[in-house]
Amino acid sequence: MKKKILVTGGAGFIGSHVIRQFVNKYPDYHIFNLDKLTYAGNLENLKDIEDKENYTFVKGDINDDAFILDLFKKEQFDGVIHLAAESHVDRSIANPTEFVVTNVLGTVNLLNAAKHIWKDNYEGKRFYHVSTDEVYGSLGETGYFTEETRYDPHSPYSASKASSDHFVRAYHDTFNMPMVISNCSNNYGSYQFPEKLLPLFINNIRNKKPLPVYGKGENVRDWLWVVDHARAIDVIYHQGKQGETYNIGGHNEWKNIDLIKLLCKVMDKKLEREPGESEKLITYVKDRAGHDLRYAIDASKLSEELGWEPSVQFEEGLEITVDWYLNNGKWLDNVTSGAYQQYYEDQYEKR
Ligand code: NAD
Ligand code: DAU
Repeated sequence: MKKKILVTGGAGFIGSHVIRQFVNKYPDYHIFNLDKLTYAGNLENLKDIEDKENYTFVKGDINDDAFILDLFKKEQFDGVIHLAAESHVDRSIANPTEFVVTNVLGTVNLLNAAKHIWKDNYEGKRFYHVSTDEVYGSLGETGYFTEETRYDPHSPYSASKASSDHFVRAYHDTFNMPMVISNCSNNYGSYQFPEKLLPLFINNIRNKKPLPVYGKGENVRDWLWVVDHARAIDVIYHQGKQGETYNIGGHNEWKNIDLIKLLCKVMDKKLEREPGESEKLITYVKDRAGHDLRYAIDASKLSEELGWEPSVQFEEGLEITVDWYLNNGKWLDNVTSGAYQQYYEDQYEKR
C-alpha cells in the first residue's frame, strides 16, 4: 500500500512546488492535492505532473467540515502537509474576517478530521503545519527570529497564522496530535501570484507600469528560493522531531528599495533596455498600515539538526526567477485578468 499524503493549498505558489517535489521524488507515495482554487489557486502551476499516477487533485474547501471528514475517512491519509491559506498581508487589511475563517477555522477543521481518523493509532502519522516568520512580529536593526522568539503578530494575516500555530500546538499538547510546524521567511520563484512584491514588479517592468514602493522602501525581508523551502518541508516532514518547530530562512536580507533596484538592473539587461530605464518606474506610495520593519530568520536549528541549507545564491535564484516569468508571459497574462484586475484597482488606484 502506498503512503497517502494530503497536501492542502497545492495549487498555490509554494504548495505547487511541494507537490511537484513529492510527486517526482516519492513514487511510493500517493500525493493528494486539496485546493479550493481561490483567486490564488491555479492548476496551470501543476501541468507538468498532473498526469502522474501517484497524484490526485481534489477540489474542496478546508472549511467544509462534512466534506473534509468524509475525505479523511475515505482516503485514510498517513500525513497532512497543510499550506492552504489566505496569504497576502494587504488583502488581510482589506478583509480580516476571511483570514480568520480560512487560516484559523480551516486549520482547526483539518486537525479535527485528522484526530478523528488517527485517534486510535498515531503511529507513523504526521500533521505538518506550514507557517510564517511574520508571527514573530518585527525586528529592529539587529537580531534574528529563533524558535523561542515570542509571538507578536501585527497584521490580521500574521495574527491568523499565529492563532493557527497555537491550535496545532494545543492539539499536540491536549490530544497527542503528532505534529511539526515550520516558520519560513519570504519566498520567491516561479508560479507566485503577481500581487506579491517580486512577481508584481517583474510584471510591471515587463509592461512599463509604475512600481509602487510602500513608504520609503526601507523595510527588510529575508528572501528564500521557493524550491529551497519545498526541500526544507521535505526534510522536516521526514526527519523533524514530533511536536517541534523549525525556522526556515535564506540568510539573505534585502532592504526593499535595494532589491527593487537590483531587479530593475537585471531586467534592463534581459529586456535589452537602456541601463536605468526600469528604475524610472519606481513610484513611492502610501505605506502599508502596520508595516513590519524587518524580518530575519535564524535557521541554525534546521541546519544543525537536520542538515538543510539553501541550495542557491540569491543573485542566481533571482535570474532564474526573472527568466521564468519572461519565458512564461502567457501564465502572467492569464492570472492578471478578471478578479485580480479589480483587486489591483482597489489596492492601488486609491494610493
Ligand atoms: P498562495 O496564496 O499562493 O496559495 C494558497 C493556496 O491555498 C491557493 O491555491 C488557494 O486556492 C488555497 N486555498 C485558500 N483557501 C482555501 C480553502 N478554504 N480551502 C482549500 N484551499 C484553499 O500562498 P503561498 O504563498 O503559496 O503560501 C502557502 C502557505 O505558506 C501559507 O500557509 C502561507 O501562510 C505560508 N507561507 C508563505 C510564505 C510566502 O513567502 N509566500 C512564506 C512563509 C509561509
Ligand atoms: O515573511 C513571510 C511572508 O512573506 C509570508 O507569510 C506571506 O504570505 C507573504 O505574502 C510575504 O509577506 P510580505 O508582506 O513580506 O510580502 P509582500 O510581497 O507583500 O511584500 C514584501 C515587501 O514589499 C513588504 O515590505 C511590502 C513591500 N511592498 C509590497 C508590495 C506588494 C511594496 O513596497 N509594494 C508592493 O506593491
